[in-house]
Amino acid sequence: MSIDLQFDHDHIWHPYTSLKKPLPVYPVVSAKGCQLMLENGQELIDGTASWWSAVHGYNHPALNEAVTNQLSKMSHVMFGGITHQPAVDLAKQLCQMLPCSLDKVFFADSGSIAVEVALKMALQYRLSQGQSQKNRILSLQKAYHGDTFAAMSVCDPHDGMHQIFSSQLIQQLFAPAPVSRFDGAWHESDAQHLRELFQQYHHEIAAMIIEPILQGAGGMRMYHPNYLRLCRELCDEFDVLLIADEIATGFGRTGKLFACEHAGITPDIICLGKALSGGYITLAATVCSSKVAEGIGQGKAPALMHGPTFMANPLACAVALASTRLIATGNWQQQVTAIERQLHLELAAIRELPHVVDVRVLGAIGVVELDANIDVAKAQRFFVELGVWIRPFGALLYIMPPFVITQAELRTLTSALYQVCQQPITHQAAALPGA
Ligand SMILES: Cc1ncc(COP(=O)(O)O)c(C=O)c1O
Repeated sequence: MSIDLQFDHDHIWHPYTSLKKPLPVYPVVSAKGCQLMLENGQELIDGTASWWSAVHGYNHPALNEAVTNQLSKMSHVMFGGITHQPAVDLAKQLCQMLPCSLDKVFFADSGSIAVEVALKMALQYRLSQGQSQKNRILSLQKAYHGDTFAAMSVCDPHDGMHQIFSSQLIQQLFAPAPVSRFDGAWHESDAQHLRELFQQYHHEIAAMIIEPILQGAGGMRMYHPNYLRLCRELCDEFDVLLIADEIATGFGRTGKLFACEHAGITPDIICLGKALSGGYITLAATVCSSKVAEGIGQGKAPALMHGPTFMANPLACAVALASTRLIATGNWQQQVTAIERQLHLELAAIRELPHVVDVRVLGAIGVVELDANIDVAKAQRFFVELGVWIRPFGALLYIMPPFVITQAELRTLTSALYQVCQQPITHQAAALPGA
């Protein structure tokens, strides 16, 4: 029986789309390695790793085995008053991978919720310390931290996906997005703007939240490590907690295990997701330092007030343990270095094409920025004809493939990018944003 596309069209919301005017969807029936198999038998090389999560590729034997083994024991059990091996083993694994000061783990059910929990930790820490006036969060323009309400409040307030909710959101503070590029010179003006904000508002700021090195869904911008170092210094100087949202960057994507390592800094709270469970089952984690955990514990309400039904789901923890163990073997380093080298080489020619305003590469991330928003449906039709899955957003085309991608598969992706960039895929009307 084939997938009922008409029913899908009439009844199902897809991410960032309208039910009045849905964008076309492609029916996928299976996936293996870096290939998605469409219902009509066509295979597509996946350039997105399912929104940057499937770093080991699809249908991976070790990850399959982890899920199957766990399934035969129990798929779920509540985490209130109960614990289980997959959660304990995964927490131990994360503590080993992270800097040693980050050792208190909260399992959340998605990246957005991990951000909610991080913000809650920071605010509860301030309440517990009798600093209720420090109740705002400092974030960056061009930031993206998720779709739930507190997460939306720290996303870019002007150009982001959540602009229409601006009057309903908690009013946070925003620093200008850094202009110093990762691969360019350091501009002192970035430091000046940030320092001024800290000087003026530090009495009100509980925490600063930042996507280390790569501002992802807010524009795929890679910024200078000095900026991150400066954030750490200012947070220390002005008694502000630093939250690193490594949901997109964690587990090797930028060429370091965690992107904070580019700047040699350790945050007070870190958010992990996406690649955590190898793209198998939704799972995220918020990990904080003892200072934060103990600080919360000193309050009148010492419990961290969060506890979702599916917290630390055993299937998700088991597969995340298998995924992080694969990462811990270190093979990702050669894979990501090879991808980075190839992206540099093969995307260089795209720079010269008309309508291309920038090409950026870092780790297993290749970004092409055009001079106008892209017609997603049109571009995607071209990509599918060329046998690849690349999903544009705004004026951006990007590749963030599984780390296991072969040289030949990656070449097919970069060549498709080159060809599609020469097609009339942009339009001036504002596109519905969708990462
Ligand atoms: C940096 C960052 N934070 C948070 C999120 C939200 O994660 P999720 O989509 O799992 O809720 C994303 C998703 O793209 C992200 O890139």
